[in-house]
Amino acid sequence: MRTIAFVTQKGGAGKSTLASSIAVAARSAGERVFIIDLDPLQSLVKWSKAREATDVPVEHVPPAKLGKALVALEKKGVTLVVIDAPGADTEYTDAAIRAADLCIIPARPNVFDLWACELTRISIKDKKKDYAFLLNQCPPAQQTARVDQGAQALQEMGALLAPLVSARVDYQEAARLGLGVCELNPEGVAAQEMRELWQSVKRRLKKGAPAGKAEPKTEAKIEAKVEAKAEAKSKGEAKPQAKAEAKVAGKIAPKIAPKQEPQPARKQAAAVAEPAPEKAAKPQAKPAVKKAA
Ligand SMILES: Nc1ncnc2c1ncn2[C@@H]1O[C@H](COP(=O)(O)OP(=O)(O)OP(=O)(O)O)[C@@H](O)[C@H]1O
Ligand SMILES: [Mg+2]
Repeated sequence: MRTIAFVTQKGGAGKSTLASSIAVAARSAGERVFIIDLDPLQSLVKWSKAREATDVPVEHVPPAKLGKALVALEKKGVTLVVIDAPGADTEYTDAAIRAADLCIIPARPNVFDLWACELTRISIKDKKKDYAFLLNQCPPAQQTARVDQGAQALQEMGALLAPLVSARVDYQEAARLGLGVCELNPEGVAAQEMRELWQSVKRRLKKGAPAGKAEPKTEAKIEAKVEAKAEAKSKGEAKPQAKAEAKVAGKIAPKIAPKQEPQPARKQAAAVAEPAPEKAAKPQAKPAVKKAA
């Protein structure tokens, strides 16, 4: 069983929206998924009530009971737990980080989210947990400089998951109906984003050991890894995750690299000036899948 947690101290970055849609995408890909809603606001418990299907159960669990709940879920044969945490630095977020094999830190391409990300990252690093950033609510039409700079800042702070997630009506509509975007509009771009995102997360999870079982990396292991990487490079091989990350990097590099010297992440983030659009930029076609009667 693997556990992913959506965490950031910044409210409204898209934790609940992404947690529900990736849970559905993972379920469609064959995982036995369970969502733990740690947030006292219980957004995903409400999402679950709107959902008629029982294939992605959701339960609100207080931090003190999280450990026991995870043990019970593993015994039941659950393969993926998705934790949704509140947008604040509290015992809830701490519990989510400690329980996770991978912490996903969503951020919108605006300076406040990027600053909040850095604080969350420090908290995760202190707990020696794996993490990756996710840029959410990007303007869908084109890669603006603001998105590019946001992506670059997050890459400099650590791994950035591919793809970038756009601001789309499908995410809001799916949440309202208790669905994932893959169910709401399976042929839509948002559904494609969530399927790809789940594959990125899965690859990232494979790279690390489950929480609590991680062995400290020895010098010999690190050296062996470096050698293996060098060998793969000399053969011209690239790992799928590396390819995906390179794709994101490739999008920002031509615009940013020639113009400026590399800067610290905070400085890059500070260059992100405009506020993010809070609404989806492009209305989409009517949902192909409506809520089951
Ligand atoms: N990719 C997206 N496209 C369009 N709207 C989005 C997207 N992601 C999130 N939203 C919208 O942004 C708002 C905040 O999202 P959400 O509630 O998921 O954030 P959160 O991080 O869980 O917030 P909180 O910290 O308060 O729990 C919601 O109205 C949601 O519909
Ligand atoms: Mg939420």
